[in-house]
Amino acid sequence: MKSRRKREAMYEQFGPAYEQARYGDPYKELYRHMRNEVLLGIVKSAVRASSPCRVLELGCGTGLTLRFLSSELKNVEIFGMDFSDAMLSQANEKRRADGAPFCLARGDTFKLPFRDAGFDVVYSTRFIHQFSHDEKRRIFSEINRVLVPGGASATEFYTPHGALSRRLRGVMETPAPHQCPTICEIRDLLGRNIALRPVRMMGTRAIARLFGEDVLHQLTSLTRFAPLRVLAEEYFVVACKR
Ligand SMILES: C[S@@+](CC[C@H](N)C(=O)[O-])C[C@H]1O[C@@H](n2cnc3c(N)ncnc32)[C@H](O)[C@@H]1O
Repeated sequence: MKSRRKREAMYEQFGPAYEQARYGDPYKELYRHMRNEVLLGIVKSAVRASSPCRVLELGCGTGLTLRFLSSELKNVEIFGMDFSDAMLSQANEKRRADGAPFCLARGDTFKLPFRDAGFDVVYSTRFIHQFSHDEKRRIFSEINRVLVPGGASATEFYTPHGALSRRLRGVMETPAPHQCPTICEIRDLLGRNIALRPVRMMGTRAIARLFGEDVLHQLTSLTRFAPLRVLAEEYFVVACKR
């Protein structure tokens, strides 16, 4: 497990190359597109129509998702938080270039720089896998602190089967167990009352090529159910604060 300082130094160095490395090819772009659509659905159903809504992204990185959500959602205040200047400066460039209405804050996810009960939705992508089980527990406790009662967290997790499949295909090295927790471990953090919203399934590239994106979306959505869950590579886990 990387210490906070090592992780911060890594993102300071890797920051300028991050987008190209993580989203640079068409397949990764398709993954990001699918993730955006799933997240948009979650946020739309979670925000309350009656009052102004506030949404927070943890570990917002270069601001790609902030830019997407702020172009899609009106009457929603969108905030991004990250601890890396190298990543935040790219998010800030997008904000200025598009005149996009989102706010940025520098801070640490273990001590969020926000007041209690200030957000309706707190989400993250490619973020929670970095932390140990105990650290995840502390992060979810912070998330609960800043959520209003009835607010929702939406957290993208890598699945154990997805990691195994990528490892067999030589796409990644053996992941540490904390990077892709089992559903039992996720329930241990968030309780039993959670909903799964799959982002990508195994064979996404082939399915999209052979049958098109509509079929891909339908099949991916089915991987939220237990027997097919083994086919999901990443999913959002949605939990409501009681
Ligand atoms: C893999 S990147 C993901 C960026 C973006 N969410 C995405 O999906 O592309 C992880 C991000 O988490 C941030 N991060 C890591 N640890 C953090 C911490 N303790 N507090 C705040 N941000 C942190 C990093 O600076 C980096 O921008």
